[in-house]
Amino acid sequence: MSTSIESVLHENRVFNPSPAFVAQANVSGMDAYQALCAEAAADYEGYWARLARENVVWKQPFSTVLDESGAPFYQWFSDGKLNASWNCLDKNIEAGLGDKVAIIFEADDGKVTRVTYSELLARVARFANALKGLGVKKGDRVIIYLPMSIEGVVAMQACARIGATHSVVFGGFSAQSLRDRIEDAGAVLIITADEQCRGGKNLPLKPAVDEALTLPGTGSIKNVVVYRRSGGPCNMVPGRDLWWHDVAANQSETCEPEWVEAEHPLFLLYTSGSTGKPKGVQHSTGGYLLHAILTTRWTFDLKPGDVFWCTADIGWVTGHTYVTYGPLACGGTEIVFEGVPTFPDAGRFWKMIQDHKVSIFYTAPTAIRALIKAADINPGTHPKHYDLSSLRVLGSVGEPINPEAWMWYHDNIGGGRCPIMDTFWQTETGGHVITPLPGATPLVPGSCTLAFPGIMAAVVDEAGHDVEWGKGGFLVIKRPWPSMIRTIWNDPDRFRKSYFPEDLGGKLYLAGDGAVRNAQSGYFTIMGRIDDVLSVSGHRLGTMEIESALVSHPLVAEAAVVGKPHDIKGEAIVAYVVLKTARPTGEEAKRIVNDLRNHVAHEIGPIAKPDEIRFGDNLPKTRSGKIMRRLLRTLAKGEEITSDISTLENPAILDQLKEVIK
Ligand code: PRX
Repeated sequence: MSTSIESVLHENRVFNPSPAFVAQANVSGMDAYQALCAEAAADYEGYWARLARENVVWKQPFSTVLDESGAPFYQWFSDGKLNASWNCLDKNIEAGLGDKVAIIFEADDGKVTRVTYSELLARVARFANALKGLGVKKGDRVIIYLPMSIEGVVAMQACARIGATHSVVFGGFSAQSLRDRIEDAGAVLIITADEQCRGGKNLPLKPAVDEALTLPGTGSIKNVVVYRRSGGPCNMVPGRDLWWHDVAANQSETCEPEWVEAEHPLFLLYTSGSTGKPKGVQHSTGGYLLHAILTTRWTFDLKPGDVFWCTADIGWVTGHTYVTYGPLACGGTEIVFEGVPTFPDAGRFWKMIQDHKVSIFYTAPTAIRALIKAADINPGTHPKHYDLSSLRVLGSVGEPINPEAWMWYHDNIGGGRCPIMDTFWQTETGGHVITPLPGATPLVPGSCTLAFPGIMAAVVDEAGHDVEWGKGGFLVIKRPWPSMIRTIWNDPDRFRKSYFPEDLGGKLYLAGDGAVRNAQSGYFTIMGRIDDVLSVSGHRLGTMEIESALVSHPLVAEAAVVGKPHDIKGEAIVAYVVLKTARPTGEEAKRIVNDLRNHVAHEIGPIAKPDEIRFGDNLPKTRSGKIMRRLLRTLAKGEEITSDISTLENPAILDQLKEVIK
């Protein structure tokens, strides 16, 4: 991606918000943005306290704002009590929005279902009562392994309603990944579906749960609740497995919310880090909800008449904050889409925007790049064939958006009039931390622009000192903020070491990305991860996780995984493998590549399948035995090695590792 970073740094196209947009915006004009930043700088706690009082409804008001006594385990609004589901549902109904459509669900086959706020509350209450009936109580962890569905949102909201902590596992993860999360979370119940329907196919989901529950470490699970999506074959284990429609039948449509402390863990969400073991990122209820609401209002300028569509799956943090919580807590109408952007053809997104008159659209660069390519191949799917005039704000998330894709998005989807919010954030930040605001920030393609008001983002050197604008360094956030990660579940030590390292003084939140600020404007450009984490189609994957999956195959002695730039996926996965047997060639090599790719899919999930596997008699190592990943990255890109390799133990294997098995 180095070429695109270069081009971003020299990007001089600037897109100012139109006066008409500014006039109606929730944050109207650069002065309003700066006033918010100034308020936060002058009285940091007072600023967040004001916003928390104005935007969140508290059952018991808070008097403490930020408690730093246990730093870096910060607490916000800790003596306040609230319920996230009440803030998303009952609050809106009390405000007269009961008959407003909350969710427009479009199934893979195009069937549309609309659910009002009153209906959604009734469904959430019934399911929450069902969970209580199964003995789930405040603080219990519940795994949700569901496709994109109304039920997915209902399941999350129902957990929130009774104070159970949900942990959603993306439906593309394998039984093994599911097992790891069940064990780490000590979950008591799993909510899943018989099958998922994507791209015109029914794909089994429940068998992965069955397989996970045969593996050691899953004894904490008492029940599996199964939503019947397709009606396809589904094995049900008597006494353990129950149908959603059976447990929810005859339940009351009222369920008094469990009023929880602001710090009560709303959810755990597992994400990759630099070791082989995913981290259970723990979020709070109060601070998290505040930021979900604020960013939905300010970054997307959500208004009562909007139709909001975030295309992310609920298995990722984007689907938590901008499907399940933010838009509903703001009383919005949102789209939930079951399918894939390329079925029945690559015009699906554009057709849905047209059909549902979507006004705010939020997706990932990888999807945009794939759809650009699809429209080149099949011009019938080009967005120009659709009426996209309902759109007024666009968003991008998950990875850097290259200026070419930005311009295409701006011109072809946004009709040249819609501002693009390039939102930088992470599972750990809970919501946007660096992003433009559409009625305030002049946009520069490829830059996520400026910090969200109140977020003290900066770029520092190895000792934690600010670097000058124009110079690269580590992206940090200097003060704790309400929606930040609270800890890593079961691993507070790893939390401290990963995010508040001593080298930087122990007080700065280290995002794990490199960044640079434009020398004139101070705009941020993200340069990518500084650790061994890849972003493949916007999905975060640790190289160590993939390496562990590879070495768990009986044939593999050693493996090293690196990323290489990919036109559509952002990064592709390249694996270098040493077998216990001789280095394979020809047909045998092809067969083993196939086996290994399937093995990784089985261990982690299809998203982690290496795009390329190369075999060597050994890996390039220093004399002290360290794998020289820098060389592996150069080889992956197909570039010649020009750097010094004098410390390399075995230079001859570099030639072997150039060979890509087709
Ligand atoms: O490297 C950054 C990249 O995605 C990482 C966070 O991944 P995850 O926790 O899965 O959350 C993704 C959705 C919020 C970051 O450390 N990233 C995210 N947004 C951007 C980005 N890189 C550049 N520009 C962005 N807008």
